[in-house]
Amino acid sequence: MDVGMDKLVSLCKRRGIIFPSSEIYGGINGFWDYGPLGVELKRNIKEAWWRDNVQMRDDMVGLDCSIIMNPRVWEASGHVGGFSDPMVDCRVTKERYRADQLYVFAYLFPAVNQKGEPTEAWLAGLGSSPEEAGEGPEKKAAKLAKRFGKPADPPTVIPFMQVAEADRAKVIGPSTDEAGTLTEPRSFNLMFKTFVGALESDSNVAYLRPETAQGIFANFKNVVDTGRVKLPFGIAQVGKSFRNEINPRNFTFRSREFEQMEIEFFCRPDEAKEWYAYWRKARFQWYVDLGLRSDRLRLRDHDAEELAFYSTATADIEYSFPFGVSELEGIAHRGDYDLTQHQKFSGKDLSYFDEERKERFLPHVIEPSAGADRATLAFLCEAYTEDQVGGEARTVLKFHPRIAPVKAAVFPLVKRDGMPEKARAIHDDLRRQFAVFYDEKGAIGRRYRRQDEAGTPYCITVDSQSLADDTVTLRDRDSCRQWRVPSAGITSAIRDLLDG
Ligand code: GAP
Repeated sequence: MDVGMDKLVSLCKRRGIIFPSSEIYGGINGFWDYGPLGVELKRNIKEAWWRDNVQMRDDMVGLDCSIIMNPRVWEASGHVGGFSDPMVDCRVTKERYRADQLYVFAYLFPAVNQKGEPTEAWLAGLGSSPEEAGEGPEKKAAKLAKRFGKPADPPTVIPFMQVAEADRAKVIGPSTDEAGTLTEPRSFNLMFKTFVGALESDSNVAYLRPETAQGIFANFKNVVDTGRVKLPFGIAQVGKSFRNEINPRNFTFRSREFEQMEIEFFCRPDEAKEWYAYWRKARFQWYVDLGLRSDRLRLRDHDAEELAFYSTATADIEYSFPFGVSELEGIAHRGDYDLTQHQKFSGKDLSYFDEERKERFLPHVIEPSAGADRATLAFLCEAYTEDQVGGEARTVLKFHPRIAPVKAAVFPLVKRDGMPEKARAIHDDLRRQFAVFYDEKGAIGRRYRRQDEAGTPYCITVDSQSLADDTVTLRDRDSCRQWRVPSAGITSAIRDLLDG
């Protein structure tokens, strides 16, 4: 089902999945905290990624680099010179916008001037989507139409960058009778700057990494020199990245601090095309296998104009979020661009000697680059379901068991007759292997609902029959089906269910 963002954000807050960062101080735009359930969810996603892409493969090794690196890394990668977005300031709303994500709504309206003579007036609006740009003006337009009649031509919505420079003031200015309410776009570097050491001087400037990928390239030679790897092989890294986004928006989707899960897969140049096709398919399937089964998940190949100059092919894995179709992960064929740059800037030989072919060359690289926060958000959107159980409405998060924050909850039906003790013993046994939760408070129906909302796939209840025949009730989250299993076999029963 389609979940509205407002509902999801409020569920995340209420159930301890995601909170605004430093909320008691009014929060800080673009930063988020994961609460008790959210931290488990995100950890499970990162662990599933690591297990499937590193642990289960012979051709992948891991890495954990520092967040602050020698600033030359970012000169070589092109981030110091080119990692910027075009930014415009609106003098009226005092908002900053990314010019390339800004839309202008323009409507030429009949009006009367102060002397009562007929004239024309622009009704204009700005927004980060065509809908947002039209929201305010459309309401005003309805009022104006009642007064003056409908304009002959329909309104136009144009991406800001497509409005000719000479026309920008014309289109935007008259909405407030103030010519030119927006500044011209200017380049804004997205890297967070800091200083290393006591002096805040230019020579001490350093950056918080805007991607984990460059740490992998900077360590390429180190990893090759360990002698553990042979082409083709990949280096994987999961970690925080920071971007001073002009317009953080859509909950955690565009944040200023976020986590990436990146692979640089090095291969022989003549095999790169094949590896690109492999990773493009494999990465898409990973999301499907973890539960993004609906047609909201898509794979989109970049067309020629979208490609970076060094890339021969790039594809985005996209998800249709409630706020629109947006990127979850990019898979890029980057050629030997990155190793060439780092070789040039560091002066170190980064070539690889292929023993089999007796050749020395710079390997080509395929980069599947995913965001842990965006994946978490997509899994939340996909899992969110409202249905009816016994005529009662419930909210349930239908997570794949691998990523569910809690795998099973254990309840005594009532707080007497030895049921809590037995339930506790089962809980203590299970917790050695899974994330489990014990709850003895409230009516059993309410306890089930609470676990449904947390996305817990199984509930185990100890009741009076359990005391007589040593069985427990097992309940399935999605179907609400209940059946009895011997309590001695509960751990293996849960394991079998989780393994599917
Ligand atoms: N090394 C390549 C790279 O960083 P990217 O498309 O800029 O490519 C890769 O980022 C992934 O990182 C994105 O697909 C997204 O999942 C995540 N990501 C990027 N910027 C983000 C942001 N501001 N907030 C949350 N996730 C972000």
